[in-house]
Amino acid sequence: MTPDEPTLSSPLQTDAHFRLLVETVEDYAIFLLDARGHVATWNNGAQRIKGYDACEIVGRHFSVFYPREDVETGKPQHELDAAARAGRIEDEGWRVRKDGTRFWANVVVTALHDANGKLIGFAKVTRDLTDRLRLAELQHARDLSAHVQAALENERASIARELHDDLGQQLAALKMQIATLGNAAARPPRADIQPIEAQIDTIIASVRRIAAGLRPPVLDDLGLFAAIEWLVNDFRRRYGIEIALVIEGEEIEFGAAASTSVFRLVQEALTNVARHAEASEVRIVIGCTAAHCTLRIEDNGRGATLGKRDPSAFGLLGMGERVRQLGGVIVFHSRPGEGFRIDVTLPLSAMMSDGRA
Ligand SMILES: Nc1ncnc2c1ncn2[C@@H]1O[C@H](COP(=O)(O)OP(=O)(O)O)[C@@H](O)[C@H]1O
Ligand SMILES: [Mg+2]
Repeated sequence: MTPDEPTLSSPLQTDAHFRLLVETVEDYAIFLLDARGHVATWNNGAQRIKGYDACEIVGRHFSVFYPREDVETGKPQHELDAAARAGRIEDEGWRVRKDGTRFWANVVVTALHDANGKLIGFAKVTRDLTDRLRLAELQHARDLSAHVQAALENERASIARELHDDLGQQLAALKMQIATLGNAAARPPRADIQPIEAQIDTIIASVRRIAAGLRPPVLDDLGLFAAIEWLVNDFRRRYGIEIALVIEGEEIEFGAAASTSVFRLVQEALTNVARHAEASEVRIVIGCTAAHCTLRIEDNGRGATLGKRDPSAFGLLGMGERVRQLGGVIVFHSRPGEGFRIDVTLPLSAMMSDGRA
């Protein structure tokens, strides 16, 4: 180092460097207020976060940074009073940029005193935490969605059980009682019993179908692949659309939560085919390797324009959410007239860990 080279050691140099540091910091609005709350200095960060140039804001009262409702309740002055009393205060809340948009700020106000202890102003450091807030809100919405999904799944399972066990049993008992009425040995046989028996059979079948639609017993008894086979057969029978199911590789013991999620995903995809696709063929391919499970559902229907989301449509969104919860990836491919294809890749580790859906 030559003797002429600038150093940080002299007090004057340190002061200048420190000012430079404060002025150039971009991520924090750092500025001084006079004792009455007028802006006295301004840095790059303040300009970036709040949108004012120094020449526009120096001399103005700092309450312009607060939303109108805060100004009306006197919050800016309360903060200065509190900082003057306590030496320093910290606050998180909405602040307003020059263009009127709001940002979520973390604000620290520190009171400044002269050598005699007289209040001369305040140092204010503001950070824009909007991204962090949005992230926290997103996480919160995702937690809530997982919770609602689990609650819905439990509710469906319990209604399905009640329908099957309680109503199903009662209908079976009713059928037996009616059958004894038609029994020639007991009393004069009644010819009009048969249609009633047939009607009860139809009701029993309906109850079973509704219960299975809510939660197919095969999912709990025989596992995911058997449940998808059941779904496919049911779809074929109901809509008369040709549907091929290809399962590659061995079935692994999937966890209950993952099985339910994948089952619901296929169910939603098939519901979409029935509702929107006007397809004549559907193909489902499931394959598991040592690390991943892949699932493809494609149809040859009318397709759709992806990208523009109808705010009332939650099917594809829900599929994405289920896959995300399992740590997987889902991709939708479609164009008008070119069918619709859904590709899902799920890490096997998430599929095997247990827990309820
Ligand atoms: N298999 C498909 N074929 C054609 N269009 C589809 C298909 N699946 C989804 N879509 C389109 O994507 C949109 C969003 O689907 P979704 O989120 O499930 O909502 P919803 O079924 O309630 O409309 C549908 O409205 C439809 O336009
Ligand atoms: Mg749908």
